[in-house]
Amino acid sequence: MNLTSIAERLLARLPNRLAERLFGGASKIPTVRRILESEYEEMLASAPIARPSAEHAVFAELPQQPIAREALLAEIAALAEAEQADWQDGHASGAVYHGDADHVAFLNEVYALHSQSNPLHTDLWPSGAKFEAEIVSMSAAMLGAKDTPDDIVGTVTSGGTESIIMAMKAYRDRAGVRRPEMVIPDSAHVAFDKAAHYFGYDQVRVPVGADYRADPTAMAHAVTRNTVVVAASAPGFPHGVVDPIEELSDMARERGIGFHTDACLGGFVLPWARRLGYETPAFDFSLPGVTSMSADTHKYGYAAKGTSVVLYRGIDLRHHQYFVATEWPGGLYYSPTMAGSRPGALLATAWAAMLSMGETGYLAATEAILNVAEEIREGIGKIPELQILGDPLWVIAFASEVVNVYEVMAQMAARDWSLNGLHRPPAVHIALTLRHTRPGVAQAFLSDLGDSVDEAKTMGAEPQTGAAPMYGMAATFPARRAVGDLLRRYIDRLYTIEDRDSSS
Ligand SMILES: Cc1ncc(COP(=O)(O)O)c(C=O)c1O
Repeated sequence: MNLTSIAERLLARLPNRLAERLFGGASKIPTVRRILESEYEEMLASAPIARPSAEHAVFAELPQQPIAREALLAEIAALAEAEQADWQDGHASGAVYHGDADHVAFLNEVYALHSQSNPLHTDLWPSGAKFEAEIVSMSAAMLGAKDTPDDIVGTVTSGGTESIIMAMKAYRDRAGVRRPEMVIPDSAHVAFDKAAHYFGYDQVRVPVGADYRADPTAMAHAVTRNTVVVAASAPGFPHGVVDPIEELSDMARERGIGFHTDACLGGFVLPWARRLGYETPAFDFSLPGVTSMSADTHKYGYAAKGTSVVLYRGIDLRHHQYFVATEWPGGLYYSPTMAGSRPGALLATAWAAMLSMGETGYLAATEAILNVAEEIREGIGKIPELQILGDPLWVIAFASEVVNVYEVMAQMAARDWSLNGLHRPPAVHIALTLRHTRPGVAQAFLSDLGDSVDEAKTMGAEPQTGAAPMYGMAATFPARRAVGDLLRRYIDRLYTIEDRDSSS
């Protein structure tokens, strides 16, 4: 979601215009509610949303006559081309993890060959089940299955969020307690909140230590008799540091509780980093306390967008992920994940991506990314106004006590860099991918970062540029409900269709 645009226009105006009225549940009073609604409307009306340029026709209804395929292909190609440079040049944090033209063309070819397949119909497309089983098996073998006598099983999902959601569902259903609880570090991905929301969990987020890693003592204290799962990350999204998975999973095991390693980011990097000689803490099924994991094929697995793997120690836990219906008039029904029908083509592309990379491909990719990460870490270390948070490998967060770090991010955006803003503490990160290993990208990043810091220094404590005011505001603004309400309305606006003449 592009929050950049909502930034200054919405949140920067909140404290002056709304904050007092929002406190103490005032927003529940009908009159206040009406005022709020009109304020939201006014603010949203002026919030720019990124849209394709105006020459593209808009369709709110079906055209009466079919549009020629060539014309549609030309239109779609133009839309893609206009967006391509933003991710291809290595100026985005994360987002596209491989992106080389020949790799993308190969995945597209594979996708096209299986575009009609749906693994829900195993009789029609047995290849779907083959692809899925082999993706799961290859991922498990990479993530410690060979170091344990237990069966490591799993499924493919639509992404990291669904993998985490499915694992949390499995733990909830296995435990069968009325108010299940999950204990996670504050740095764990928001997908755990989504799972808590969907599946009625009480969630305990535990503050991380000074090194930004989960604090095993504090997490152990947070466990209660309702805790059904403890989770941590390898590494976490915000600061890119690997949590002490061994200590945490041992703690969970001693208490007879499940433990999930979220390796959505690291599952396809850390095993190869270790082989390359990097000191990486144990995080996978080689640890007896790790009972489930998530690892994203669509990130550093270099597949097309839309797949991830969730793995379990033992088939019993996986059974709690499944959905089966025996009494439906539509027949006997079973489905392993949230979706019913699923895109078999994405299974084919994930399978093909993994096989076309092979061990040596992943090793080379990891080496290239970790080399560029070292260069970038060193370079940031030479900018006295910035501090790197924790001891990250390839997702590098930095903060500043001298300049406003959100202003630095905005200055980088003005130089065409799309970085991620973080909260609590205010910081910015870049997740390095193969896009950043292209010649000159690291040097350009560091040079622009130095210039951005210099620029930010001239601008005083208050962030002024681009999204900077939003990040400054969102980090501290106390009326979180109002921020949430605005975000909901912002999403609504993404679904609105501009009032333009579709015949032009
Ligand atoms: C550590 C971690 N877990 C989970 C996710 C969620 O993944 P997705 O966006 O594929 O749902 C992410 C995404 O960046 C992540 O970094």
